[in-house]
Amino acid sequence: MEVNLLSGALGAEVKGIDLKDSSEKNWQLINLLMLEHKALFFRDQDITCEEQINLAKKFGPLERHVYVKGLKDHPEILRIVKGAEEKHQWGETWHTDVSYNPKPTKVIILRSRKIPPVGGDTMFSNMEIAYETLDNEIKKKIKGKKAIHSSLGAAAFVDKYTEMEGNGNLDEYSNEHPMVRIHPETKKKILYVNSMYTKKIIGMDKKESDEILKNIFEHQERLDFTCRFKWTENAVAIWDNRSTQHQGLTDFFPGRGLGHERIMDRIAIEGDHPQ
Ligand SMILES: [Fe+2]
Repeated sequence: MEVNLLSGALGAEVKGIDLKDSSEKNWQLINLLMLEHKALFFRDQDITCEEQINLAKKFGPLERHVYVKGLKDHPEILRIVKGAEEKHQWGETWHTDVSYNPKPTKVIILRSRKIPPVGGDTMFSNMEIAYETLDNEIKKKIKGKKAIHSSLGAAAFVDKYTEMEGNGNLDEYSNEHPMVRIHPETKKKILYVNSMYTKKIIGMDKKESDEILKNIFEHQERLDFTCRFKWTENAVAIWDNRSTQHQGLTDFFPGRGLGHERIMDRIAIEGDHPQ
């Protein structure tokens, strides 16, 4: 096995592990590596939908997306398609997946099927380091605080993207989570707000809440907390959605990144109530 770090902050490309193998032993190794590096990347893994599902189930119960339809034969898999001439793609600013749910996603397994020759890399950011390096005054202000995370409604996940199909749910809802959560497995503190879904700090007036959140979001964007993965076809990313944020870069510009389809298969594993 070979593990090559992607940056000083997080992420590792792993060689010598076969993702078709969903045995307990193989999964234990993958989970340990994921907890250590937070985001793992594997290339040339031509796994079937069933193999992707089998591996995902080792992490826990699978989750269905609240707004978007899964595949007809494999509803656990959400196919993310960016049309050739689309300039936008799913998840194009920093976020933690479905942090608006009562039990946000634990782990994501994302498999590439069709990848543009250039454009659409995914960036990841380490929210343990973001907490450690956060200004002490802000740490004091948010100690013990919770924040509201909003689901934004179906339009944010469907209408903007020509190839994404809604499941008919149009309800918008929100949930509260601790702004600093403890990772259930590593016991490390994680800065658990994100600029896409986190709307307000509870028990604070709006002005102060807006100001603190703005400062935190700027801090979370620091490039030294990140790594960047350039996709190839049949690559698989497995990341810890509790301790990281990510974004799909939308560098689909005319004459260079535009004009290519991008297709990814996503499986989400259900997490727990952030504590
Ligand atoms: Fe995402």
